[in-house]
Amino acid sequence: MTLPGSPHIAYRGDELFIEDCRLSDLARRFGTPLYVYSRASMLAALAAYQRALVGRDHLVCYAMKANSSLAVIQTFAHAGCGFDIVSGGELERVLAAGVPASKIVFSGVGKTRAEMHRALDVGVLCFNVESEAELGVLSQVAAGSGNTARVSLRINPDVDPGTHPYISTGLKGNKFGIAHEQALACYLQAAALPGLEVIGIDCHIGSQITDTGPYLDALDRLLDLVESIEARGITVHHLDLGGGLGITYTDETPPSAEVLVRSLLERIDARGHGHRKIMFEPGRSLVGNAGVLVSEVLYVKPGEQKNFCIVDAAMNDLMRPAMYQAWMGIVACRLRDGPEAVYDVVGPICESGDWLGRDRTLAVQAGDFVAVLSAGAYSMTMASNYNTRGRAAELMVSGDQAWLIRDREQVSELFRGEHLLPASVL
Ligand code: LLP
Repeated sequence: MTLPGSPHIAYRGDELFIEDCRLSDLARRFGTPLYVYSRASMLAALAAYQRALVGRDHLVCYAMKANSSLAVIQTFAHAGCGFDIVSGGELERVLAAGVPASKIVFSGVGKTRAEMHRALDVGVLCFNVESEAELGVLSQVAAGSGNTARVSLRINPDVDPGTHPYISTGLKGNKFGIAHEQALACYLQAAALPGLEVIGIDCHIGSQITDTGPYLDALDRLLDLVESIEARGITVHHLDLGGGLGITYTDETPPSAEVLVRSLLERIDARGHGHRKIMFEPGRSLVGNAGVLVSEVLYVKPGEQKNFCIVDAAMNDLMRPAMYQAWMGIVACRLRDGPEAVYDVVGPICESGDWLGRDRTLAVQAGDFVAVLSAGAYSMTMASNYNTRGRAAELMVSGDQAWLIRDREQVSELFRGEHLLPASVL
């Protein structure tokens, strides 16, 4: 049986494997809930971008918000990748993984002065600036500390990416980026302010995009702007086309990274911009299909209207279904002959919104393991401690080897840093 997503996660006979590791063995050895990632799958996804960019000045900056575990960062860094960060926390994480600051771009609508100071001190490659106000503050912070901030302005091209409203970012009504119409004035301002050096232009129109059209529309708007900016004497060295490429969760058919990148490069060349450095900020498409969340079936609860399959992973481990009604595949780690039933797969959390999948046909019994597919992106990074549940452990698999890359969070860690009131106030 073939599964949507990565070829590195597949059945061999009745057993689900990730690379050469049997998932039910890993679940027994390391406990559940358990995130497991295929290193080969991550590297293959990165290589697809890099192949299409061979021969160009380029940098693929992995949007680490998708999965920021140190070993994931390290894996990409070793393969020549740069990184897109959105907080001071992500900056410290990526530095802790040994990434040079010259490969880091700093995005996000709400950078604080403290975050700017730290990023300038370590010397990040570029700040993607999202408003006129931020430009002013960055100039003050940089000039005040005798630094120069390299900047690229994030343009909101007002293009509909055709995705879930929560993950559309390039429309006029979104909080992101500088309106297309105001961009030229902002570039003139950036060029005039102290402590700033304009180096590029940037856009990111949304996530889980499954069509090349919106990218080409956004690119055209960006190139129009670059032409008018350069006509005013400001050089734009790089084009950062953001992330957003979708993956297959079920039956989506996004273009491959290679096809997407090649069609964008074709348009860039056709419009005479082929000499510019090209940057991308992919997140989901580098890691999404590389991971699974393995969980144990605790109880099977038949009902009049619904059957429930209650598992030990919950919305705190995997927010996407509850938050976006996202459909993620759920399969048994070991296929059994039957009987099959249609289940809502739910977690132990006290919320009706705590579900991982609805109306799923499965043959399962208590004690079996199930895997939620395509859980490499926006899964562990969005986990919380709701219901005082520790976060899952994570493994990285390569061939027949598995490494524990994050310990299971212990309950004692969950209230470390909390303080009881003194007895005198009770
Ligand atoms: N660059 C910027 C500035 C971004 O805001 C994002 C994602 C990316 C790059 C990477 O986008 P990607 O290639 O992963 O689509 N939690 C949601 C997705 C939120 C995306 C936020 N920004 C989900 O689970 O679907």
